[in-house]
Amino acid sequence: MSSILITGANRGLGLEFARQYAADGWDVIATARNPKSGEPLQQLARNKNVSLHDLDVTREDSVKQLAETLGGKPVDLLVLNSAIYTRNGNKLGELNFAGWRESFETNVLGAIRVAEALIENVAASNRKQIVAISTGMGSLQALGSTIEFGIAYQYRTSKAALNMTMSILAKEVEPRGISVVIFSPGWVQTDMGGANAVLTPEQSIAGMRKVLEGNPMELTGKFLGHDGATWPW
Ligand SMILES: NC(=O)c1ccc[n+]([C@@H]2O[C@H](COP(=O)([O-])OP(=O)(O)OC[C@H]3O[C@@H](n4cnc5c(N)ncnc54)[C@H](OP(=O)(O)O)[C@@H]3O)[C@@H](O)[C@H]2O)c1
Repeated sequence: MSSILITGANRGLGLEFARQYAADGWDVIATARNPKSGEPLQQLARNKNVSLHDLDVTREDSVKQLAETLGGKPVDLLVLNSAIYTRNGNKLGELNFAGWRESFETNVLGAIRVAEALIENVAASNRKQIVAISTGMGSLQALGSTIEFGIAYQYRTSKAALNMTMSILAKEVEPRGISVVIFSPGWVQTDMGGANAVLTPEQSIAGMRKVLEGNPMELTGKFLGHDGATWPW
């Protein structure tokens, strides 16, 4: 049975990743800061192929604890999904440097911290693939066309840094046959995306799953939309 580990699996896109792969019979390792707090995740965990684990990606002890719990268990697909979008203090005159640091701590360092801790679990699997959930808002070249979504210094710069971090990771682990794919999931109806977003979580995740059916090493290092279209950096 293939296995998937998802960060931030208690709501939004992370929960939908867990739902869809669980329905397909994958072994789902659903992680969250408070896995016992959300009813939808509790309900999902009634399936035998879903297990819940505590994970705060900003805390080294939490990441270490998860790695120890997993031991040598193979992870075919590692989904680095957790992120925050700090909305206050994104304009000159009111910049929120604490929020900016927190964005980097979660969205960049959190993602690579988990990847570093679990890289041997990924390497021990058949599929050997890491998926980082980024955003088109992290694209420098698309800034003109995405500026309508907000100035968002904190979120945008953290996701641009995530893109570079994951691009470097892709190069570092390529010789080991490990694939790293970066996705812009589209504008999706979640707590982060809001009710006016154009995609449902079902649509976004179904799209990314279809793309992931491709040969992992042909996808490595790419920045793709949920529809498989190439995003400019
Ligand atoms: N929705 C969109 O339109 C959209 C567009 C582009 C990109 N994205 C990206 O898609 C991904 C998922 O977003 P979403 O829309 O599902 O957002 P969401 O509904 O706000 O969910 C964010 C998830 O990240 C988790 N998280 C935050 N900080 C964490 C930490 N320190 N440790 C572990 N988990 C943490 C949250 O857990 P808690 O419940 O504990 O806070 C939650 O599970 C993010 O990377 C986001 O940037 C979303």
